[in-house]
Amino acid sequence: MSLLSAINTDNLPRHLAIIMDGNGRWAKQQGMLRAFGHENGTKSVKTTVEACAKLGIENLTLYAFSTENWNRPKLEVDTLMKLLINSLKKELETLIKNNIRLNSIGNFESLPKSVQKELSEVIERTKNNTRMTLTLALSYGSREEIINAVKKITTKVKNNIISIDSIDESIINNHLYTHNLPDVDLVIRTSGEHRISNFLLWQIAYAEFYFIDVLWPDFSEENLYEAIISYQKRERRFGKTSEQIK
Ligand code: FPP
Repeated sequence: MSLLSAINTDNLPRHLAIIMDGNGRWAKQQGMLRAFGHENGTKSVKTTVEACAKLGIENLTLYAFSTENWNRPKLEVDTLMKLLINSLKKELETLIKNNIRLNSIGNFESLPKSVQKELSEVIERTKNNTRMTLTLALSYGSREEIINAVKKITTKVKNNIISIDSIDESIINNHLYTHNLPDVDLVIRTSGEHRISNFLLWQIAYAEFYFIDVLWPDFSEENLYEAIISYQKRERRFGKTSEQIK
């Protein structure tokens, strides 16, 4: 597998975030209902999670359901929630076997009780795993996350727990859903759309972006390797000059 051998495992993104897009269009191309696209999307989730763990990526975050996705037809929302429960049930042993910790970000309380229960159980059963943290963004919206953080911080200011002057990047980080995760290094979005869709707005401040035309159910291990190779060719300057970082 030549693409894999082109990857420098000493320079992997520490945090890879993926916007899995194109399930609906993929299903339509096959003359099938959207649910068929989501079902096949779960296969790409499995392939990608296993490939990332094998490579040695420490943090993988998948955008599985946005706050805006609640506006989709009820049948589609129900299908996605069922798929999620089934995948959690089915993949618990794979997560344990691969030493992967499951984490979730988003508005947990807004998820159906059945999803909350399954999610909590898998999070609990995998909490001591150390090879990779797999974070599912579920009922997630970055603006909502920031609003919540602002509310928590201002409450602490009001109650004299912290001072206004002490508010810095780390205080904001610590009040986001992602408080236990590093900043995102690489964002991949499939399906040819070039937008961020309310995903990790604070956390992507210095991320690299990789957009690929492939629809999510067709996203393969090779596509993942291509994205990482592209990332490794880039010079990340974090606002400095090229000379300064050499
Ligand atoms: C975007 O495609 C995909 C989603 C909104 C959901 C992603 C869900 C999965 C891959 C399946 C379940 C997830 C897990 C973690 C087991 P779209 O429906 O917006 O596609 P379109 O833009 O072509 O309509």
